[in-house]
Formats: sequence, C-alpha cells, structure tokens
Amino acid sequence: MIKLTETIRQAALGLQKASAEPLAAYIYDLPALRSHLETIHRDMPNNVELFFAVKANPDTRILEQVAHFTAGLEIASGGELELIQPYLKGKPFIFGGPGKLDSDIDSAMACGVDCLHVESIGELRRVIAIAEKHNKTQSILLRINPVLPDSMQTTLTMAGRATAFGIDEAAISDAVQLAQSSDRVELLGFHVHALSHQLDAGRHLRMLDYLLHHVTELAAAHNVNLRMVNLGGGIGINYRETDAQYVWPVFADGIRELASRPAYKQLRLRFEMGRYLTAACGYYLMEVLDLKENHGEHFAICRGGTHQFRLPAAQGHSHPFACLNNHRPGADSLDDTEVTIAGQLCTPKDIIARQAPVKHIAVGDLLVMPLAGAYAWNISHQQFLCHPAPEFHYLEYSL
Ligand SMILES: Cc1ncc(COP(=O)(O)O)c(C=O)c1O
Repeated sequence: MIKLTETIRQAALGLQKASAEPLAAYIYDLPALRSHLETIHRDMPNNVELFFAVKANPDTRILEQVAHFTAGLEIASGGELELIQPYLKGKPFIFGGPGKLDSDIDSAMACGVDCLHVESIGELRRVIAIAEKHNKTQSILLRINPVLPDSMQTTLTMAGRATAFGIDEAAISDAVQLAQSSDRVELLGFHVHALSHQLDAGRHLRMLDYLLHHVTELAAAHNVNLRMVNLGGGIGINYRETDAQYVWPVFADGIRELASRPAYKQLRLRFEMGRYLTAACGYYLMEVLDLKENHGEHFAICRGGTHQFRLPAAQGHSHPFACLNNHRPGADSLDDTEVTIAGQLCTPKDIIARQAPVKHIAVGDLLVMPLAGAYAWNISHQQFLCHPAPEFHYLEYSL
C-alpha cells in the first residue's frame, strides 16, 4: 500500500478541487528533490563527479535544481543542448549517445562542451573534422561496449552484448590509434554506460569494480594515458516493491572505497545518472472517470493515460498508486477487489496497473502514482488522440 505524505495528499486534493475538468496532472516536490540531491552530492568523494542525464527529465524547473546540486549536465541531442544552456550557470556539460549529427557536434563545440563521448570510429572521424574547423583540441572519451559477465547484467543492459552502443573491444585499438594520431582530439579515457535498472548496490559496486579494473587494463594494453573514466548511470527504482529501494549508503561507502584505491585515486571518475536523481520527486495524478466490469475483470477508466505517463507500459510493470477517496455520495464504486487502471486511449495497451488490489474505489476518486519524476511524461506519445497535456505543479514549502 502506498503511503503519501500529508503535503502530497493535500496538494493533490487541492488541485482536484481547483480543476474545472476531471484531473490529470503531475506534481513535482521540489524540496524533496533538493534534499535527495543534497545527500547524494554530500556523499560523493573528491575525485568523483556526478552529472545529471537530462534524458531522465528535461523539465526546466527540475533542471534548475539538478544543475545546482550536480557537477554538470549530460546531454544526448541537439535539442537537449539548446534546452540546458540557461540552466548551466557556469557548470560543464558533456555530450554522449548514438547518432550525433554533425550540426549537433558543431554546436556542442561552439558552446564549449567539456567532453564528447564518442560512439564509433566513424563518429570519431567526424569529431576530428569538426574540431579542425573550430581550430580546437576537443577532450573525448571513447564509449566502449566491454565484455560483461552475465551475473552483472540487469533487465536493461547496453553492454556486454550486441547493442547499438559504444565501440566493440575488438575495434578499440583502431579507435585509439585514430584518436592519438590527431592533435584535434585529446583522449582522456573511456566511457561505459553498461546498464540501467540496477536495484542492488552491492551488485552495482561489483560491476564498477570490474569495469574500472577492465578499463585500466585496456588503457595499459593500448598505451592510453588514462585520466578519466565515465561509468554512466544505471541506479534503478523499484516500482514493483516500493519498500525495497536501492540502498544509497551502501553505494556511497563502496564508491568512496573504490575511488580511494591507489590504482584509481588519480583518476577523475564520472557518473551520469538519470532515473535515481529525479524519479522520487514526481507524482502523476489521474481522476477516475468510469468503473466497469469486462470479461470478469474490473476496470477503472481514468483521466490521462500512457500518452502522459508511459513509464509503466515502457517498463512492463503495474505502477503502484494510492487512491484518495474523494467522490460524491452515491458515485459508482467497488470494494475489496482487484481493478485494472486504464487511461483514455483507444488501445488495450493504455494500462497503468493491472488487477491491483483496492479497498474502495469510486468515480471521482483521485489516483496518485508516486515515483513518476523520471522517464514518465517526456517518454510518452503525447499527441495520440489529441488529448491536452496534463497540468504541472511544482511544490515549494519548508522541509
Ligand atoms: C549513455 C547514458 N548515460 C546515462 C543514462 C542514464 O541512465 P539512468 O537513468 O539509468 O541513470 C543513460 C540512459 O539510458 C544513457 O543511455
């Protein structure tokens, strides 16, 4: 059962009351976001820099906060490059991801990108040519797709198998030679974003230990003066068992130990985390429009849906929710049963939670989905059926 704070409960009910139409909305809890970011920032050792992967949530009110508490921002497109400029306030940005356009690389260099994460040998050639045009030496990392033991993989793994990401280890030698033959790029080291959805801090640390050892050996084998390693993002959120989240203090202790080892303490280690930084500050709200039974299953049809909140459909989970009983007397209702939460779209895939247990649910009630602050609104197919966008509310209060 999801327990909401009184602040979120009151905010959600207040929004519903103020809304002329049944409500679909996001709430972002900015004080909670700041407090979370402060803890993470405090726990980072000196030689570890944490960047925010903007793809997780490009909402500008979120970016303002995150840019303040992190080392800088990680982008993966020309659109993100443009978006972040007013929020950087002197902080660096780094640029990774596949399929970079020449025009994006060109603009990133013009804006002073701190480091480019190069995805292939073809991209490296283009980076060199564009740096030549800018008459500059661009710092780069080579993104590698290393061998990764099966025991270290998760449900969303980008390395250790055939994916579109990074440079195969068999091609590293050619990539290093090309980089070292040009004075237009300075190869600082390697980038590995191996996976997302890591829920186990111990397992995560074992993978980081393995990867650091691996890239150190790779650098030695290819004569790379290793100064920087970017270890990507990947800390997950447990949407299925909300009480069993990633244990941050275990990671914080482990990364302090790892970063202080003699072999690594001269390195600049970087992370570019997305989901873990912003997921918990977001809530998605859906008002119940209709209740019905179909082929033996109860359905609650709600305002909004996967065109606003595609996260559960994308991840294949039933999203947890709290039901705020706020209906008018006599409204259609169900008691002590299981109900599937559907949205307003004309597709059977528009499901937020399947056969979730409820004590009491009625037309007019408000469902509040927590953990909705990352890969939620921004990954949704927003134009489908021309429904309006949800409302967005940003909470400010004293903690
Ligand atoms: C290259 C890269 N870095 C960082 C991230 C952020 O990952 P996460 O949100 O799991 O922390 C992603 C996510 O896909 C990514 O592709």
